[in-house]
Amino acid sequence: MLPRCAFSVCHVFVLVLCLSSAEDFDWTKNGHSSFHYGTFPAGFSWGAGSSAYQTEGAWDKDGKGLSIWDVFSHKKGKIQRNDTGDSSCEGYHKVKDDVSLMKELKLNHYRFSISWPRLIPTGIKSDHINEKGIQYYDELINHLLESKITPIVTLYHWDLPQVLQEKYGGWQNISMVNHFNEFASLCFERFGNRVKYWMTFNNPWSVAVEGYETGEHAPGLRLKGTGAYKAAHHIIKAHAKVWHTYDTQWRGKQKGLVGISLSGDWGEPVDISNQKDIEAAERYVQFFLGWFATPIFHGDYPQVMKDFVGRKSAQQGLGTSRLPTFSPQEKSYIKGTCDFLGIGHFTTRYITEKNHPSARGSGSYFTDRDLAELVDPRWPDPGSEWLYSVPWGFRRLLNFVKSQYGNPMIYVTENGVSEKMLCTELCDEWRIQYYKDYINEMLKAIKDGVNVKGYTAWSLLDKFEWDEGYSERFGLYYVDFRNKNKPRYPKASVQFYKRVISSNGFPNQREVENWRRKAVETCSSSNQLLAADPLTSQMEMVTEIVVPTVCTLSILLGAVFLMFLLRRRN
Ligand code: NOJ
Repeated sequence: MLPRCAFSVCHVFVLVLCLSSAEDFDWTKNGHSSFHYGTFPAGFSWGAGSSAYQTEGAWDKDGKGLSIWDVFSHKKGKIQRNDTGDSSCEGYHKVKDDVSLMKELKLNHYRFSISWPRLIPTGIKSDHINEKGIQYYDELINHLLESKITPIVTLYHWDLPQVLQEKYGGWQNISMVNHFNEFASLCFERFGNRVKYWMTFNNPWSVAVEGYETGEHAPGLRLKGTGAYKAAHHIIKAHAKVWHTYDTQWRGKQKGLVGISLSGDWGEPVDISNQKDIEAAERYVQFFLGWFATPIFHGDYPQVMKDFVGRKSAQQGLGTSRLPTFSPQEKSYIKGTCDFLGIGHFTTRYITEKNHPSARGSGSYFTDRDLAELVDPRWPDPGSEWLYSVPWGFRRLLNFVKSQYGNPMIYVTENGVSEKMLCTELCDEWRIQYYKDYINEMLKAIKDGVNVKGYTAWSLLDKFEWDEGYSERFGLYYVDFRNKNKPRYPKASVQFYKRVISSNGFPNQREVENWRRKAVETCSSSNQLLAADPLTSQMEMVTEIVVPTVCTLSILLGAVFLMFLLRRRN
């Protein structure tokens, strides 16, 4: 009986989509003919994003402590080509330069994260606070505000202090809740007079699943079937605690907002007339976005997760479900702890039902869902293996958020596309196409009544892409990682996004076509500039050799001159 109730909301939703698709060609899945020209509501906020470990570099500078990503990336074989974030984009040393790029784009906001071990090297506040780290974020925030760019700050974008991992097992341990709360309080205390948009966590799905279930991400644990659920449980509690801390101790003075950034792919039933596919697609989204959003908005895990993980656990002969439970007090403490919802969205999957029989000792997050993911081979796939461009999924996901969680205020915190290029390419037409179509679907969602207040292009710069190292580039700006100075070059998408921002949307077909043409024209000259760059990096290397050579030469000459003087004396 219970699962049926849980599915009914989805049924209505899918039914609405089907009915609308009958009358409104806008719900079409193949895009181009249905492009909607129009503008965004006044005051809509346009931004770009980054995160600390992916861009800052300076991994051991000025008293910063180790994070789990420093340690993980230094282990051989964990990251493509054994890349590390040690220097990355050198963002730590390039605050002014990067804020200039944002000004060039005329961004309204910039989303970045604070590195916990840069502020608190061991992660434990009573041990030590690193004032140099505080100074760095002070400088960044002040530069942004001077440039009229609103900082949107994430407290946890995956870089847990290593000491907390070693001492307690990281997010497997409930003690993280208090340590994270202390770190968050420090941030509110030091930056809260200037920062008004806070996000506790970025994409906790990845932290839980990739950090503790598959081990592809730091800390690299493979605790199949339990690790991810436990990590997520503690993360949700930590989020709620920080929201309450802000609400009771800081909101009165600082008048800011605290949210969370969740990621979610859209799951579309393979056959929209097949009940099993519809239910499987619903499960896909509930196990992804709903896992975190449902407790935060409604106080508990999605019913379908409780049912499926509970049943599978019983079939495995376990006495209790592998999915932890919240007490009644915890449920009411967690419910409603979100002033705005951050949504990170990149792609979509087709979903069909697939039964995974559960044997003793087996079981994992993935098999708990009883489904299979499929992709349409016609979907563009320019970069990351998992990232297919499916713009229509974005509008569906945003409408899902509206209907499931009471139309919350949404900031899109991540949306963008990567490229996998061996040679340098600044003429990123496919990225222009991706942004154009995804931003357009977001515009349609706003017309549907979804409360989206801002959009964050992911990302401002090419950067360290976690286990993929530097092999996948998401940036609007190209970063030349071969050059020690890490110079930035605008891709064509910079020109395009800039125009979307200045027009606050898409005025008309002729203009938008013109933007694309102009963007592609300008990029070819920048491409040539970049093609000449290896020369610059060589020149630097020569300098490195020349400097000691000149020194050595002067010492030799000095010695010869001394010998000459001594001989003359004799
Ligand atoms: C989501 C993560 O939050 C972000 O750090 C990453 O760059 C993007 N996914 C793309 O993989």
